[in-house]
Amino acid sequence: MAPFYPEELIQEVIASHDIVDIVSEYVKLKRSGRYLMGLCPFHNEKTPSFSVSPDKQIFYCFGCGAGGTVVNFIMRNENLDFIEAIKFLADRARINLPEGDERGDEAKRYKQKQLIYEINVETARFFHSQLNGPEGESARKYLAKRRISNRTIVHFGMGYAPNAWRALKEHLQSKGFEEADMTRAGLIIDQKQKGSYDRFRNRIIFPIIDLRGNVIGFGGRVLDDSLPKYLNSPETAVFNKSRNLYGLNFAKNASNQTLIIVEGYMDVISLHQNGIINTVASLGTALTKEQAGMIKKYCNEVIIAYDSDAAGQAAVLRGMDVLADAGCRVKVLCLKEGKDPDEFIREKGPERFKRALNESKSLIEYKVELLEQKYDINSIEEKIEFVNQIAEVFAKVENSVERDVYIKKIAEETGIRSEAIIAEIKKNVYKNRRKSSKPVKTVKRNTGYNENIVNEKRNNANNNLNTRLLSAEKMLINLMCDDKSLFNKVKELIRAEDFNHEIHQKIAAIIYTLRANGETIDPVKIVSRFDKDEMQTVASILHAETNFEDDYKAALELINTIHKEKNILKIKESLQEGNVEKLNTLLMEYKNK
Ligand code: CTP
Ligand code: MN
Repeated sequence: MAPFYPEELIQEVIASHDIVDIVSEYVKLKRSGRYLMGLCPFHNEKTPSFSVSPDKQIFYCFGCGAGGTVVNFIMRNENLDFIEAIKFLADRARINLPEGDERGDEAKRYKQKQLIYEINVETARFFHSQLNGPEGESARKYLAKRRISNRTIVHFGMGYAPNAWRALKEHLQSKGFEEADMTRAGLIIDQKQKGSYDRFRNRIIFPIIDLRGNVIGFGGRVLDDSLPKYLNSPETAVFNKSRNLYGLNFAKNASNQTLIIVEGYMDVISLHQNGIINTVASLGTALTKEQAGMIKKYCNEVIIAYDSDAAGQAAVLRGMDVLADAGCRVKVLCLKEGKDPDEFIREKGPERFKRALNESKSLIEYKVELLEQKYDINSIEEKIEFVNQIAEVFAKVENSVERDVYIKKIAEETGIRSEAIIAEIKKNVYKNRRKSSKPVKTVKRNTGYNENIVNEKRNNANNNLNTRLLSAEKMLINLMCDDKSLFNKVKELIRAEDFNHEIHQKIAAIIYTLRANGETIDPVKIVSRFDKDEMQTVASILHAETNFEDDYKAALELINTIHKEKNILKIKESLQEGNVEKLNTLLMEYKNK
């Protein structure tokens, strides 16, 4: 990766933060030996497997394999790219960054994104001014009919895309933007025969704004009942539908510990206008894992308030599972008569809506209710199926007291004996356990690095290496990193090329170069020199703890093991090749060692 900023500056930014302080803002850490441990913010877990090393200034999760320096941590947690993360950390440390070097892929991507943000802001301004101008009359009337106040229009930056083919394009050109960049921003559609024209025409415009206040995309609604009702920006370098939630930029400021998830733009806007600002929309798509992860950062409890039609119901069930898997407590708001939150609050007012919120059902209650509607328990067959399904739902309730309450309630309502329900649940619990323990067993551990999935080919090459050799190499690398004087004593005995695992080789090479240049060996520096894909693996390697009585003696033994194992590997190779001459030389060497 060609650097955007000079390497020394990046190291200065990293060095001005203690990784423990930064991580502690997101994760509760507890000391355990030389590490600090906590619940991993990158996957859902109940026992801590996320560890931070204050000595090495790196983090690593033993559960999901996430790892790296403070920069990698910020990148993942704040959803930033490398350069943005460096800026974020420099800002915090009050370090002034100069203009970056614009060569290199990372730098190009960054510039490209900045340009799209600029185009988007200008576009939002243009649409907003069109709404207020003479062209916008029908749009203003439409919004007034829907009781959207002027204040709300300004708050959400709503606008109007005029009924013309190239109004936006011409406006952006007058501001000096290039057509190719407008296309990259998803605002212009390029068609060979017709030429290029505006994507959004004659629509109410909803700018989509991310947590940092960037305009990342747009939604547009027709003014009548023509189709498609909504049109959204396509995926661009800055817009990824599955990673954003409409309204989260406002909802994150709500003091409330509960977040309401609705389906559409108008639901968010309408609820916000009525003072219920802890509302976000998933924009008509199924809730993704990434969205659930973002939600989990801002609240403990989520209330899903989707339309009560069949599609809405199915979406609720899927969404609930995704949210529950992310560790959120989930409830469902059931609005009767096929109304969506916007229609409900417009007709019945905010007080009635809040009351309905208080009566929202838990995940279990909601699922039970759906099953009760589905099955007729007066029929024996349906009753059996009902118990089966209920048991499946109850098996997921981890709190046994809570589970007992549900069992009792169902037993009373249906006349089915509690013991029968409990027996079914036990079968399901067993099934769930088997299911969830399976993936752990199939994780590739023979290379020592289970997260090394980026390059399958490389993985296969490394599969021949046995764990003994790998762990010897890993331990030696850690000893060389930790102890300068030890490094000087053993550096003549092994070369970087002698390491067998590709990444070990690379790390060793970096260690040798750093020492040759008289620089200190520092895990952060080493991790920083790798590509994004490899950083995790490198962090996991450098994160290992060594506990030898005599480090020097241990290092000698490890070096010996590495040489020996390398020889055995070569012997195996020559056997496979049938190369007798090579085999003989190797055997001689082996004997003499
Ligand atoms: N949606 C979409 N494309 C469509 C229809 C819907 O992207 N063709 C998304 C929009 O984000 C929309 C959400 O799905 O806001 C919910 O759709 P719907 O319930 O039909 O719209 P409402 O938000 O209720 O819009 P309105 O009240 O204006 O009819
Ligand atoms: Mn609606």
